[in-house]
Amino acid sequence: MQRAEAPIGVFDSGVGGLTVMREIIRQIPKERVVYFGDTARVPYGNKSRDTILKYSRQIIRFLKTKEVKTIVVACNTASAVALEEIRGELDMPIIGVIKPGAKTAIKATRNGKIGIIGTETTVRSKIYSHFIQDLNPNLTVIGKACPLFVPLVEEGEFLKSSIAAEIATHYLKDLKKEGIDTLILGCTHYPLMRKLIGQIMGEQVILVNPAYETARGLKELLKQKGLENQKEIAESENPYAFYVSDTVDKFQQFAENILTYSAENTMKINIEDY
Ligand code: DGL
Repeated sequence: MQRAEAPIGVFDSGVGGLTVMREIIRQIPKERVVYFGDTARVPYGNKSRDTILKYSRQIIRFLKTKEVKTIVVACNTASAVALEEIRGELDMPIIGVIKPGAKTAIKATRNGKIGIIGTETTVRSKIYSHFIQDLNPNLTVIGKACPLFVPLVEEGEFLKSSIAAEIATHYLKDLKKEGIDTLILGCTHYPLMRKLIGQIMGEQVILVNPAYETARGLKELLKQKGLENQKEIAESENPYAFYVSDTVDKFQQFAENILTYSAENTMKINIEDY
């Protein structure tokens, strides 16, 4: 296989990164993708930088065995605390989800007040503020961790309930008070709550989905590096492979809901071996 025909490696702490994979499939349908979801060790959102760095290195060693041509860190938390260090250790292009989302928010804001919601670790890292203010020090960035959003999305039956609305209203009330006009959905799961978040924040607030921007950035990166796959993929070939570190069933169900694509190609591996 030529290098340009090799798959893209995408990883996340679990199922959330499938929102990024969905955008990759939409925007660059000619690419093969190997997805790894660390379902045995999720969540990353409340873990330390050292732990997340160790996990990310193991996953990258695994993805390398699949001869990927580039890596997408689809997890906001891993992008926030591990990406820069890992980039220095790698011999291939790697992209995370923070910069693409931050750049879009900078373009979108009109009153200069940007909100970011994410896991505890992402918000504590202040990475979105650092990146945004490096590019434009006049912008204000206000972060809010929303730890209950991840389980709400994963236990999908509550998403449309009054419990979800109450939790979201509670988390978002300070951002509303601050008068932000742009909100970054800085966690893989949050685009799946977009409707509810939008209803609470009001239509004047622009919601930025880093998954969408990351796929655009990836397309650009592949082009720059001459790594775009030019060859048609045969209809008989399944271009997507999924690997998880825990049971396959729940992942498969979630994947098929999000991607509207068969995830029967899912295998469990022991990530501690890498
Ligand atoms: N994938 C994580 C993120 O985007 C959310 C789930 C977790 O805490 O691991 O930050």
